[in-house]
Amino acid sequence: MGNGIAQVAARAGYRVVMRDVEEEFLERGMKAISSSLQRDVDKERLKAEEKQAIIERINTTTGLDSMAQASFVVEAITERFEAKQEVFRALDELVQPEGILASNTSSISITKLGAATRRPDKVIGMHFMNPVPVMKLVEVIRGIATSDETLERTRGLTEKLGKTALECNDSPGFVSNRVLMPMINEAIFALHESVAPRESIDGIMKLGMNHPMGPLTLADFIGLDVCLAILNVLHEELGDPKYRPCPLLKKYVDAGWLGKKTGRGFYEY
Ligand code: 3HC
Repeated sequence: MGNGIAQVAARAGYRVVMRDVEEEFLERGMKAISSSLQRDVDKERLKAEEKQAIIERINTTTGLDSMAQASFVVEAITERFEAKQEVFRALDELVQPEGILASNTSSISITKLGAATRRPDKVIGMHFMNPVPVMKLVEVIRGIATSDETLERTRGLTEKLGKTALECNDSPGFVSNRVLMPMINEAIFALHESVAPRESIDGIMKLGMNHPMGPLTLADFIGLDVCLAILNVLHEELGDPKYRPCPLLKKYVDAGWLGKKTGRGFYEY
């Protein structure tokens, strides 16, 4: 997600600093950006020199110091509250006072992330969809203390990135994952209970509901660890057993079968 966000921002003309914890991840991210842009070069929708200019607008770093001058930061780290809280605290110390701190979280409370800083009015959710360069939506989430000005600046940035901002209030899973994850979880229960093989479950939803991907393929694409983390947030925070993650999903995550990124999930890659 992080490299996709860096790519769309650089393509819109912004100078971008992409930060990760290890050089190796940054290299992988830059490779993904290059091959994603290459699709458009191959289709003659982007000139090779424009691709080069986009890439040159992205600087990579493993430190946080170069965030100091940023006017807008989008965090897209692992989906764990404690880890995000630590990053937000550090960013709050570093980033210029007018800077907005946005999170690409799939389900974690924006209000709680805001409370980790001394600028909760400038903390907001900016939830991109995967694959970021293709998907038009940015779900914009307003925490309890997020100001109108922060919301407007975030809407403005979203439009400049060529995306549509749709707003919602802070609630576990927001709208996107509150609706999507129970469907994915139900598909996993159907597999777990041998209602149908994986291909049939996906095929029924693809051909029958016109979904571009079946729910099991989509879960593999999102990452099974991410799906489990989101379902855990929905289950714990809303307290309703209907969000209970399927035991098969837990088992796959325990096995390290996290989907496309590890070469195995509900399918083999
Ligand atoms: N970078 C740039 N372009 C890409 C791309 C990438 N990484 N991946 C696909 N594309 C482009 C292709 O070049 C192609 O462009 P064109 O039609 O203009 O020529 C177009 O997207 C379609 O790609 P393909 O023909 O290769 O394949 P598909 O038609 O199967 O589309 C897909 C791929 C867009 C991923 C489609 O299957 C899809 O929309 N799947 C569902 C995605 C989805 O639901 N995402 C949301 C996940 S939930 C989420 O992110 C929230 C989180 O919190 C969990």
